[in-house]
Amino acid sequence: MVISVDGKSTKWDLPDQSWASEEDQIHLRKLVSETKVLLMGGKTYEQAKSHIKPKEGKLRVVVTRDPKKFAADEVYNQLEFTNEPLEKLIERLEGMGFEELLLLSGENLNKEFFEKKLINEIILTVEPKIFGSGRSIIADSKLDINLKLKSMERANDQGTLFLTYEVLY
Ligand SMILES: NC(=O)c1ccc[n+]([C@@H]2O[C@H](COP(=O)([O-])OP(=O)(O)OC[C@H]3O[C@@H](n4cnc5c(N)ncnc54)[C@H](OP(=O)(O)O)[C@@H]3O)[C@@H](O)[C@H]2O)c1
Repeated sequence: MVISVDGKSTKWDLPDQSWASEEDQIHLRKLVSETKVLLMGGKTYEQAKSHIKPKEGKLRVVVTRDPKKFAADEVYNQLEFTNEPLEKLIERLEGMGFEELLLLSGENLNKEFFEKKLINEIILTVEPKIFGSGRSIIADSKLDINLKLKSMERANDQGTLFLTYEVLY
């Protein structure tokens, strides 16, 4: 996830993260290339769709309340759309032998994953920017989750930070 210093995951009401630094984009591409299963929400998928190229050996699972809406995009074993309950979905993917899942989603789906205690690590980029308004990384809720900083790296001169936290439930 990428946020501004004032904690915004979007700039104002703009739909994308084109404001993120080149270093963040490289970092994200590396994470994506190293992970065999990616999960995202329907809205994030629609926004990122033009950049997504299904590929053998990488499974992208899009969580949506209406999988039929995306039927034409489905690619067997590479791009699937599901409305399975989140815990069941994770169990199914674990049962298929996947040990690590990368969640690439916005505040609403993130909130559900945190509420269900399904996240064990946060990979966060903090960009040295302030937007004043925009979306959060977790939608309004009452959570009380402790984190432990695992790693911290300054990625460029301006001070983009790569942070990794372990989630302590
Ligand atoms: N800064 C960052 O790193 C970052 C990363 C990703 C996204 N974003 C931003 O986040 C915003 C979108 O956030 P978002 O959370 O609303 O969208 P999202 O990531 O697509 O997640 C919400 C969507 O997931 C699906 N969903 C959620 N809970 C579900 C459930 N229990 N069962 C089935 N489907 C479920 C729904 O898709 P359907 O609508 O298809 O039913 C819902 O609209 C965008 O503005 C994007 O720019 C920021």
